[in-house]
Amino acid sequence: MLELRHVYTRYGKVECLKGITVTVQKGEMVALLGANGAGKTTALKAISGLIHPVAGEILFHGKPISSLRPEEVVRLGISHVPEGRKIFHRLSVLENLELGAFLRRDRSGIQKDLEEIFQIFPILKKRLKQKGGTLSGGEQQMLAIGRGLMAGPSLLLLDEPSLGLAPILVTTIFKMIEAVKAKGKTILLVEQNARMALKTADRAYVMETGQMVLEGSAEQVRKNPAVQEAYLGGSG
Ligand SMILES: Nc1ncnc2c1ncn2[C@@H]1O[C@H](COP(=O)(O)OP(=O)(O)OP(=O)(O)O)[C@@H](O)[C@H]1O
Ligand SMILES: [Mg+2]
Repeated sequence: MLELRHVYTRYGKVECLKGITVTVQKGEMVALLGANGAGKTTALKAISGLIHPVAGEILFHGKPISSLRPEEVVRLGISHVPEGRKIFHRLSVLENLELGAFLRRDRSGIQKDLEEIFQIFPILKKRLKQKGGTLSGGEQQMLAIGRGLMAGPSLLLLDEPSLGLAPILVTTIFKMIEAVKAKGKTILLVEQNARMALKTADRAYVMETGQMVLEGSAEQVRKNPAVQEAYLGGSG
């Protein structure tokens, strides 16, 4: 479904992605792991058209998308839930959700997606008229994912959904992400919480300073001694 082939990006003179290759098959949940500054967010931004690679190719269903604008990428069915949630604090929950669908005209499809989002995140239905800024951190993350789903994507890019959440909420959010997957979405998940990500994902990639250093099934990556040491506290 998605393929990054030897993708390079720069911020000014600084090379950030140094030739990364990633594939995501339809229906998979793939985790992208790595330390702070490894380039995980940059990889998602390259996919969603927020930055353009200086070399390499990004293909979605076999077609190059690397030079498209973000809204064109959204129209193709890729939705990016950014790091730090970025919900609109002064807008209501419903308005935040509706903004996710602003490129769509299929009213019945939008309504169907809204119902599906309420099934996965029932609290959002209860909070519909509340301002986004009044939600708890976990609820804001649910809203951010819900807003991403309102674009009607087939591929969802999630950047650090568990960041800053209490452990109990991390478990809840991951269960909800599994429910999103069960609704037929393909997911590329960036996470610092390697333990949870590797429990949930089908496959995983590990990045270090702009390069892929490891890939495999979640099971293989979890058992890798270097991953154990660096990301899982050596205890597995
Ligand atoms: N807008 C920018 N301008 C210049 N350098 C940037 C910019 N955004 C990121 N970088 C640099 O690019 C590198 C990769 O950043 P990126 O945000 O992709 O990492 P990350 O893996 O998502 O890290 P984190 O876990 O902290 O979110 C870092 O060295 C970062 O400082
Ligand atoms: Mg990041």
